[in-house]
Amino acid sequence: MALTFKIAVLAGDGIGPEVMAEAIAVLRRCAELEEFRVDLSQSLVGGAAIDETGKALPEDTLANCEQSDAILFGSVGGPKWERLPPNEQPERAALLPLRKHFNLFANLRPALCLPELSAASPLRPDLVQGGFEILCIRELTGGLYFGQPKGTHEERGETIAIDTMVYRKSEVERIAHLAFQIAQSRKRKLVSVDKANVLENSLLWRSVIKEIASIYPDVAVTHLLVDNAAMQFIRAPKTFDVVVTENLFGDILSDELAMLTGSIGMLPSASLGTRQHGYYRFGLYEPSGGSAPDIAGMGVANPIAQVLSVAMMLRYSFGQNDSAARIESAVSKTIKEGFRTKDIQSEGTHLVSTKQMGSQIRANLDR
Ligand code: IPM
Ligand code: MG
Repeated sequence: MALTFKIAVLAGDGIGPEVMAEAIAVLRRCAELEEFRVDLSQSLVGGAAIDETGKALPEDTLANCEQSDAILFGSVGGPKWERLPPNEQPERAALLPLRKHFNLFANLRPALCLPELSAASPLRPDLVQGGFEILCIRELTGGLYFGQPKGTHEERGETIAIDTMVYRKSEVERIAHLAFQIAQSRKRKLVSVDKANVLENSLLWRSVIKEIASIYPDVAVTHLLVDNAAMQFIRAPKTFDVVVTENLFGDILSDELAMLTGSIGMLPSASLGTRQHGYYRFGLYEPSGGSAPDIAGMGVANPIAQVLSVAMMLRYSFGQNDSAARIESAVSKTIKEGFRTKDIQSEGTHLVSTKQMGSQIRANLDR
């Protein structure tokens, strides 16, 4: 009997539905070739859900996710919903509750700069020649995003806003184990980023990383202060492999790393949870970029980030490393053949639409 993977599909807003259509087509073709089955159920999320139901994350959508083994997420948000109170806006009202609800504590954002696309990087050619891949592992359910107390109040005639940074040892331990294990499967090099010269949180972070490091003696670990890390990524991106950091630092640094690759439309992400269903590990998979309302509906968006999110899902939630590798090589092959969407186009390459890029990748799945 072929394995069946149950997936909640939340395409969302902007370019979400267009790139999702291509990613699903790639997934279905890959399923035929690798002989697994997919059971997909679509739900509304973000602005699309607000328009239909008044809520960015309706109960039905959450129930669909509950009944699935993974969530394939598009993107949410757009100018249409920017005037809503911040807590009702698509990004905050859909993404953050999903992360918290499913305990999605580990966010993996690979910053991949393929050799053929290194010219897209804003860095000097000698710094990125041959491309690079840095995997940013960001803690996603702790720190300033969720710490209590949080809020705004009046005190002695003045408005005060409070966010609280909290980490428990167990929260640092679980992300540390994951980071070391992933580093073991790659170049055995891990950089941990903190602000241990100022923050109590970072003193705890650093001591836990050091403690866990003794369990993984084959991984070389270094510690960088966050301000220094921001510089080193630009100075020498090719010297990094896996980076692990807390929530807010990871939010900022993962955008910096994405920018260094020059093509955010290429970058997927995985948010892994604690739930395990048999062999399957629950996770949410989405492009690193946003809903790009300026090009939505034009058929020009790059579907690669969404397609590579499917590959990450197959690898991390369903343990299908071969299928993931098949999709990843189909993407590199398509790039090598010179096909480019507008965001990554350069002289002498072949400009294609979202759909054409999707079908080219599909064709390259047969090997
Ligand atoms: C991200 C985004 C989110 C975050 C926003 C939309 C809440 O910037 O996924 O990086 O800050 O985590
Ligand atoms: Mg961000």
